[in-house]
Amino acid sequence: MEKLVSLAKRRGFIFQSSEIYGGINGFWDYGPLGVELRNNIKNFWWNHMVRLRDNVIGIDTSIICHPKTWVASGHVDCFSDPMVDCKTCKGRFRADHLGSLPCGQKPSLTVEQCAQQKKGPGELTEVRQFNLMFETYIGALRDESAKAYLRPETCQSIFTQFKNVQIVSRQKVPFGIAQIGKSFRNEITPRNFIFRSREFEQMEMEFFTKPDEAEAQKWYEYWVEERFQWFFKLGIKPDKLRKREHAKDELAHYAKGCVDVEYEFPFGFSELEGIANRSNYDLTQHMKASGKDLSYFDDATKEKYVPAVIESSLGVDRTLLTVLVDAYDEDVADGEERIVMRFSPKIAPFKAAIFPLSRKLAEPATKLEHDLRQEFNTDFDDVGSIGKRYRRHDEVGTPFCITYDFDSENDHQVTIRHRDSMQQERVSIDKVKDYLREKLK
Ligand code: GAP
Repeated sequence: MEKLVSLAKRRGFIFQSSEIYGGINGFWDYGPLGVELRNNIKNFWWNHMVRLRDNVIGIDTSIICHPKTWVASGHVDCFSDPMVDCKTCKGRFRADHLGSLPCGQKPSLTVEQCAQQKKGPGELTEVRQFNLMFETYIGALRDESAKAYLRPETCQSIFTQFKNVQIVSRQKVPFGIAQIGKSFRNEITPRNFIFRSREFEQMEMEFFTKPDEAEAQKWYEYWVEERFQWFFKLGIKPDKLRKREHAKDELAHYAKGCVDVEYEFPFGFSELEGIANRSNYDLTQHMKASGKDLSYFDDATKEKYVPAVIESSLGVDRTLLTVLVDAYDEDVADGEERIVMRFSPKIAPFKAAIFPLSRKLAEPATKLEHDLRQEFNTDFDDVGSIGKRYRRHDEVGTPFCITYDFDSENDHQVTIRHRDSMQQERVSIDKVKDYLREKLK
């Protein structure tokens, strides 16, 4: 993780937020390459979940919504984590993570070991519940009536807008509504780089089905498999992924089933995405709290019902961390050690880098780069030897490096070098676009 965090900063993927002021725990900024990678991941999800399907549509809702939303969803009363304070270091820790969190004064020990070794269990305060929602105030008043929350998940406004979206899209159950957006949780102990942060982005899809148990179960199984397969399409190594089914006592009282997709991070297998059968609890809760009818009338069967929901919920930042961890590799190239990010070409920040062999060839090489950038995110690099330029682009995962040399002037060909195999081939300049299109398909 240390190597990865260092590379992420050095090459402009991720910086600590407000670094010049000493940083702010649990918040991160994405640099020039980070934002490209992030957008590519989000587009890849959006295409797969929305654009390529007939029965899923997208929305984009506000971060702050009516505070009653969070009463109805149960977040005001129940969205909390258990917390303890250490009486010596004054650190505040999640009570259910004490066995893995480092002690504030002696990071070689966990909080649990430290408490036991030093002063015994009395070292830590009693467990208290801490609500994770960030609060704010709407308008000029700062009293309870003006209190609102930054959303801790994006799905609730999919539920509250269910009827509007269903009517305008003329979708019939079963169908889904998806959105990508920021969520905020005042995590007690944000950690593991961008794995658990206080501001993050989610990609969520709520699929509405008949509340009939067999029907909901059928779609639940469909989405578990569909979502698991999506990570392979993203290029993640299959042997690093697994599904973990929640035990009955882990499930919310209304949930009929939940499977986490987990990835083997350097700190162990951890949750990437949750797929859950939430019954029709969410719509029912919002109907009760708002007094509005969110039920669905089925024209075919003439039945009226409150649909059940199968949810797929994934973090953008957690997916990006997975992609970084999974792509990181070290090997030897031309007798030198190199770091290479083996991103799937589909999501690599740069698709190609164009190198003029000599600055004298800058003009035609620039012309080629400007032509390619109409379609692909490219980089132009004329600094240092070709070997150094390869190393720089290996480190940011550019799948193809294209050298324009003196022969290119006569044979109208360039050399394309592949990041993973390091093999090179000559390709006609007028065929480079087709070549990249084919490779990035
Ligand atoms: N609507 C259901 C829901 O929000 P969740 O398991 O709390 O379920 C879903 O969150 C996903 O959102 C997680 O699997 C993870 O990818 C991401 N996520 C949750 N909390 C996060 C945090 N503090 N930092 C980064 N990602 C987070």
